[in-house]
Amino acid sequence: MCGIIGYSGSYSGSFCAQKILLDGLEQLEYRGYDSAGVALQGENGELFLRKKAGRVSVLREACEVAPVNARCGIGHTRWATHGGVNDVNAHPHSCGRVTLIHNGIIENYHEIIAAFGFAGRLHSETDTEVAACLLDYLYQGDPFDALRQAVDILTGSYAFCILFADQPGKIFCIRNVSPLVAAHNESGSFVASDLTALIAYGKSYFVVPEETVMTLSAEGISICDLSGKTVQPEILTVDWDVESAQKGGYPHYMIKEINEQPEALQNTVRPRLRNDLPDFSEEGIPDALLSCCENITIIACGTAMYAGMVGKALMEQTVKIPVSVHIASEFRYDTPLIDSRTLTIVISQSGETIDTLAALRLAKDCGSPTLAIVNVKGSTIARESDYVLYTHAGPEIAVASTKAYTVQLAVLYLLTCRLALLRGCFSQEQGQEFISALLSSSEAMEQMIRQDQMIREAVKMVKRSDHAFFIGRGLDYAFSLEGALKLKEISYIHAEAYAAGELKHGTIALIEEKMPVIALATQEKIFAKTISNVREVRARGAAVILIVKEGAQVDPDVYDIRIDLPVRKDEFAVFPAAASLQLLAYYTSDAKGLNVDKPRNLAKSVTVE
Ligand code: G6P
Repeated sequence: MCGIIGYSGSYSGSFCAQKILLDGLEQLEYRGYDSAGVALQGENGELFLRKKAGRVSVLREACEVAPVNARCGIGHTRWATHGGVNDVNAHPHSCGRVTLIHNGIIENYHEIIAAFGFAGRLHSETDTEVAACLLDYLYQGDPFDALRQAVDILTGSYAFCILFADQPGKIFCIRNVSPLVAAHNESGSFVASDLTALIAYGKSYFVVPEETVMTLSAEGISICDLSGKTVQPEILTVDWDVESAQKGGYPHYMIKEINEQPEALQNTVRPRLRNDLPDFSEEGIPDALLSCCENITIIACGTAMYAGMVGKALMEQTVKIPVSVHIASEFRYDTPLIDSRTLTIVISQSGETIDTLAALRLAKDCGSPTLAIVNVKGSTIARESDYVLYTHAGPEIAVASTKAYTVQLAVLYLLTCRLALLRGCFSQEQGQEFISALLSSSEAMEQMIRQDQMIREAVKMVKRSDHAFFIGRGLDYAFSLEGALKLKEISYIHAEAYAAGELKHGTIALIEEKMPVIALATQEKIFAKTISNVREVRARGAAVILIVKEGAQVDPDVYDIRIDLPVRKDEFAVFPAAASLQLLAYYTSDAKGLNVDKPRNLAKSVTVE
């Protein structure tokens, strides 16, 4: 949520820092895209500030009218929290000698305004401008000292990049919770909210440690903790390249990422197999963690939470262990009924979602061992959980999650298999069969993506409607939750998922002539029941898009469009089903001429509560 970038260096070229910042902001735009701004600093500390409501392209146009040839600057793309979307509320914010950008929320900004009498100095409605005023107030010529004092006053989450007028060529950074990564090469020093903005400049980077002050200059990066002691960050290497973070010939990131799923699934599963069975010993996960727990709690947000719902259905039916799934933002304010006997699994693509992070911390406080399933290496959730299993999706840029969901599922399937082996629910052979079906799911997804004619037919039906329902039972219900989320977030069609048997307790009143109902009926043991529910909606005029396993016997009167999933085992239907539901949402959004990759009001990484 909000993307930030800073650069100080000797990069030669016509507009140097300006170009690096604008290019970086374009890469970070998925984190927020309602306004953007840059502050460039001249050799003598003079400041050039440009900020605009709208996309980074609007800012770029404004910058290109009067390019600034500076070697140091900071840039920001905003997802509004405090204050509306306009030029004034866009970052950077300046006050006196201080200019800064911020990702996060300063919770006590009202108190700070009152305590320091800042009301008359503020121009925007943002919490961020208050931090600029505070730093200017505290600054007596030593940035470190001002920042150290500010940390004691500010509450909330933040990543700041700060320019001081009398410290030309230097960017000062400090963070609490909100992410920052940094890198240095022969062209200078870089800092950003995430790697996608830095990957063009090299493969080595580090995660900026919390509670430190980092100083960037053309010559290098120095970090010290709040007592002034030098800190050496751990240098990491990126395992993907620039192309992975670009569209590679596809019209949108989302369709590129849908196509990358089969490979991502293999990359996530294969390295964890020994003797064709899952083994997490290289990742330091002891078997006792899985064999001794009495129950499992899964916590996540959005798509990751829906992956958790599939995990719950699968684990309970395979291992007969009680599993509960919680929305992170609810869990953290509930009464958590967990202790050392509960294994807590948190799932997050970004590893930075603030509610998931807070829920993880709460679970640890309750004495529950924690295991994170995370895509971004070195992210806060990955670092703070007791154990981590990384998914290997590579960078996911489209706001609507696709490949991250698939690989989260893949890890949950691996965990289920390991649990089943350890608890005597699977023999070796059953485990190997399960894993072989998991691996062949990537082929099923590939086939689904290649043969999308029926999905395109379904799109013609769905795109005309303002509402759509997704129905299913058991595992099918778990998949349909994600299908409905995908459709609503990128096509703006109101879509809801219902357990098919629950429809007649109210929701069926909403079914009217031609309303699309996407019915999933892939689970043998409840197939007949689901088909009866499909008949009930069809009898009331619904346009039924039925998703079944290839070869399923269904009376053609029951549906308008039938989509066949190339899969034999019920438990693995989710993989091709996910691909079909993602494509349905993608083509619908595209057919409506919407911005598929950057749907309105959303952001990829939600670092506010
Ligand atoms: C946002 C994104 C969703 C994502 C959710 C959780 O809402 O738009 O796509 O599923 O956050 O994000 P995480 O990074 O924790 O998986």
